[in-house]
Amino acid sequence: MKAIVATEKNWGIGKDGNLLIHLPGDLKFFKEETMGKVLIMGRKTLESLPGGRPLEGRTTIVLTRDENYRPAYMDKLDAEGQITLKSGKKVTPGRMILAGNYDELMTKLLVMEAMDGIDIEEDVMVAGGESIYDMFAPYCNEFIVTRIDKEIEADRFFPNLDDEVKSGKMQIAWESAPQRDEVSGTEYRFVRYRRK
Ligand SMILES: NC(=O)c1ccc[n+]([C@@H]2O[C@H](COP(=O)([O-])OP(=O)(O)OC[C@H]3O[C@@H](n4cnc5c(N)ncnc54)[C@H](OP(=O)(O)O)[C@@H]3O)[C@@H](O)[C@H]2O)c1
Repeated sequence: MKAIVATEKNWGIGKDGNLLIHLPGDLKFFKEETMGKVLIMGRKTLESLPGGRPLEGRTTIVLTRDENYRPAYMDKLDAEGQITLKSGKKVTPGRMILAGNYDELMTKLLVMEAMDGIDIEEDVMVAGGESIYDMFAPYCNEFIVTRIDKEIEADRFFPNLDDEVKSGKMQIAWESAPQRDEVSGTEYRFVRYRRK
């Protein structure tokens, strides 16, 4: 499986339950990279998404220890199975599957591999937050990282992959040209780290 994440200079990923910065170019990149794939995320990250809904066009496996968990967006679906975001945009939430722990999640992935033909190595993407990245990082072979060229205060972090490169465990397989957010002037680039 792969992980996809946006990190500030010190590998911070979030604060107070939210992303650190709004970068439309990064959201577009995230959409392109994840469309049609299976995402793994923690309950808190699901709830941090606009409308608290699983993203359209993707299957999302949400980890929660709450056996009775029912996301709030389910009560807001209209007759067409859509919800209306704060922006006024109507969206069709993607398929969502709940898992109570790592073993249950892996069993569900193996069933999807057998029944739906997904390739766990290529089609499954770990999408956060911190607790989920920590749990799955050892099983990921590729890390698709948006490196934001700015220090932003954070309370959630991703493992420092540059340290893994220095110690020879990982390599940078690809790096984009520098990107610039027109509104904030923030610079960032997309980097693919691969386990050696
Ligand atoms: N920069 C990025 O790319 C990026 C991406 C994603 C998220 N984020 C940020 O990361 C932060 C959220 O991270 P977080 O670590 O606080 O929360 P999280 O990982 O999104 O969710 C934590 C929740 O996941 C469930 N969980 C965790 N481990 C589990 C296990 N072993 N078995 C079953 N359920 C498990 C629990 O849900 P229950 O409490 O329901 O049991 C736990 O409270 C936010 O600030 C978010 O914006 C950033």
